[in-house]
Amino acid sequence: MMIKGVLIFSCVTLSQANPTTDSSLAAFLSDVNQQLSTLYDQEQLALFRNELDGPNDLMALLQAELANEKRMSYLKSISSRVAKFKRLGWGDALQRRQLQRMPQPGYEALAADEVAQVYQLAANMSENYHNVKLCAYKQPYNCTLKLIPDVQSVVQQSRNLEEIEYYWLEWRRCTGLPTRQQFVNFMQLYKKTAKLNGFQQPADYWFRHLELSAKQAMSLLNELMSSLQPLFLQFHAHVRGSLRKMHGERQVPHGRPYPQQLSEIFLGNAFRRANAAWFVDIPSPENGLPNITEALRRRSLNTTQRVFWNVAEYYRGLGLTQLESSIWTYAQPVATHNEDQCWHKAWRFHTLSTSNFSYCPLNDEERLFSMFEAQFELHYFRAAAAQPMLLREEPFPNFVEALGKCFALAAASPRYLRKLGLVRGTAWSRLPARLNRLYLQGLRVIFLLPVFYVLDRYRVEVLSGHIQADDNEAYWRLTELFTGATAPRRRSNDHFDMPAKLLMEVDDQYTSQFLSIVLQFQLYLHFCNSSGQFVADSLDKPLDLCDLSDQPQIGASLRRIMALGSSVHYKELLRQLLGREELSLDGLLIYFKPLQDWLTLQNRVNGLEVGWL
Ligand SMILES: *[C@@H]1O[C@H](CO)[C@@H](O)[C@H](O)[C@H]1NC(C)=O
Ligand SMILES: *[C@@H]1O[C@H](CO)[C@@H](O)[C@H](O)[C@H]1NC(C)=O
Ligand SMILES: *[C@@H]1O[C@H](CO)[C@@H](O)[C@H](O)[C@H]1NC(C)=O
Ligand SMILES: *[C@@H]1O[C@H](CO)[C@@H](O)[C@H](O)[C@H]1NC(C)=O
Ligand SMILES: *[C@@H]1O[C@H](CO)[C@@H](O)[C@H](O)[C@H]1NC(C)=O
Ligand SMILES: *[C@@H]1O[C@H](CO)[C@@H](O)[C@H](O)[C@H]1NC(C)=O
Repeated sequence: MMIKGVLIFSCVTLSQANPTTDSSLAAFLSDVNQQLSTLYDQEQLALFRNELDGPNDLMALLQAELANEKRMSYLKSISSRVAKFKRLGWGDALQRRQLQRMPQPGYEALAADEVAQVYQLAANMSENYHNVKLCAYKQPYNCTLKLIPDVQSVVQQSRNLEEIEYYWLEWRRCTGLPTRQQFVNFMQLYKKTAKLNGFQQPADYWFRHLELSAKQAMSLLNELMSSLQPLFLQFHAHVRGSLRKMHGERQVPHGRPYPQQLSEIFLGNAFRRANAAWFVDIPSPENGLPNITEALRRRSLNTTQRVFWNVAEYYRGLGLTQLESSIWTYAQPVATHNEDQCWHKAWRFHTLSTSNFSYCPLNDEERLFSMFEAQFELHYFRAAAAQPMLLREEPFPNFVEALGKCFALAAASPRYLRKLGLVRGTAWSRLPARLNRLYLQGLRVIFLLPVFYVLDRYRVEVLSGHIQADDNEAYWRLTELFTGATAPRRRSNDHFDMPAKLLMEVDDQYTSQFLSIVLQFQLYLHFCNSSGQFVADSLDKPLDLCDLSDQPQIGASLRRIMALGSSVHYKELLRQLLGREELSLDGLLIYFKPLQDWLTLQNRVNGLEVGWL
């Protein structure tokens, strides 16, 4: 086994020098760090160019692929030496950690024909998902509808239940069945890959990036899911009540999971994003929501340059280093045909001394908060550069995103928006408006967690051999149990529905996204509490109003943590930052507490049943 679990990492610290440091190991690692830096930069540079030139710069993509191949064959060429150093147990803690974090061969460990096959399968499934076109309802000659935006906008406006159901079934017919055999074959090769990478249990390989065994990871997830349950059940009951008002008792029966085809349009899981305007039952319609996009224009914050420097100022106020002006001078606009899907992005290069930045010219609410996330990455790249290249990656995927999103969340608080002049008056900080905001955030956050959970749980059960890879009935048992949603018609093993929900590649796990959301709120609670911006049970300092701006003492602890990169296990990192090493739902639950209280009261007043059989 390459991952030996948490015990090893938790006793690794940088200061423990070990006399067995060996000069051949030191030279080897130094060489590896340099080679990998160069190859990584070649790939990033090509991807950067592709980002700037539009989504399909074939030349750049080809170069990225070549650099990737070079990196793979380099890793292969050193693998026996890595194994030898590991076996001998040479080196100090930092050196052993670098050996441990050495990228693994992954699929490349398979035989050549299987390598080709596994990539082909993954690409096929992804292409199928992204390129499926449906025929319009009752228009068999109009067959060019894409899920987003075509089907989305039809379903969003439709009150024709038959039409909505038609699209739900068609989407599954086209994404699921045609890829069923491919999915089965893929999971088979995945199991083989796990073994060849030194994992006796394929499910352990699934969670390797978290440096947790499957048993540890699943028990963490199960614990988080059960902490979420009381809030989720109240929210679910409220949404089910709203759906019943809209579609009637027969469609949405009492005490049963609600029909998935009626809910997924605004729960944002099939369609990525839910739009406030689509959902009719926000807590206080008369209070609405602030229009940030419009306010950006009103405040003349409508150039990306101004937004960039306002956000830079926010982070300076947190005690992080000032960004040098060259970052903006060299920042480049993304040429995109789809502005809605364009995000600001920081680019890291290991062999150059600075990062680069690409930005979207569009100025709206989403791009504003995306700036907080992207700029946070610049700060992370800078701090983590203290580590050798092998330890500069984040401790687990989406870890840095959790930090960036934590500060974006703080910036989105009505208090900070008021400081920026984007909202006026204090009405947005009063309970009715706060509930609206929490409700819409909750639709995105709280309803997504169970969906993420089911997608990983299903694949982990397959890898553990508890269910067959194409056991559609098992998939629906998990979906009903954990998400409280059911299919419009009975689904059997003649169907295959899991791929319809897979927004990511077939071998990407959702767990790190799940944990990233949990961590985002946990960090937010920590920073708000420790800076006195949140006070438990106080009326004027609830968590959702905490804005964190001008709290320069945060920067020091943040920098210290970021400078660790992945030189320690994420648990050790959390222990140093938060004083506890477990991920916890406390932050999220405290954040949404006002909403939970409101939902519970509403459900009681309206006599809505909670839960399902
Ligand atoms: C990928 O899809 C193509 C066309 O849909 C098919 O011919 C091919 O067999 C698929 N490849 C694999 C490995 O399943
Ligand atoms: C095809 O169907 C969509 C959705 O109903 C509709 O918006 C579009 O106008 C139709 N196109 C044609 C050519 O009829
Ligand atoms: C916000 O304002 C913008 C620009 O005036 C407008 O296009 C948009 O529809 C508004 N959004 C909402 C939700 O009202
Ligand atoms: C910014 O807003 C001002 C005032 O509404 C307008 O005159 C200007 O054209 C806008 N600039 C951009 C880049 O959108
Ligand atoms: C990245 O930024 C550096 C300066 O910070 C600049 O010299 C370089 O040209 C930029 N690279 C690209 C590809 O834009
Ligand atoms: C907030 O900080 C105080 C003092 O450090 C601590 O006792 C308390 O447990 C913290 N509260 C939460 C909810 O983290």
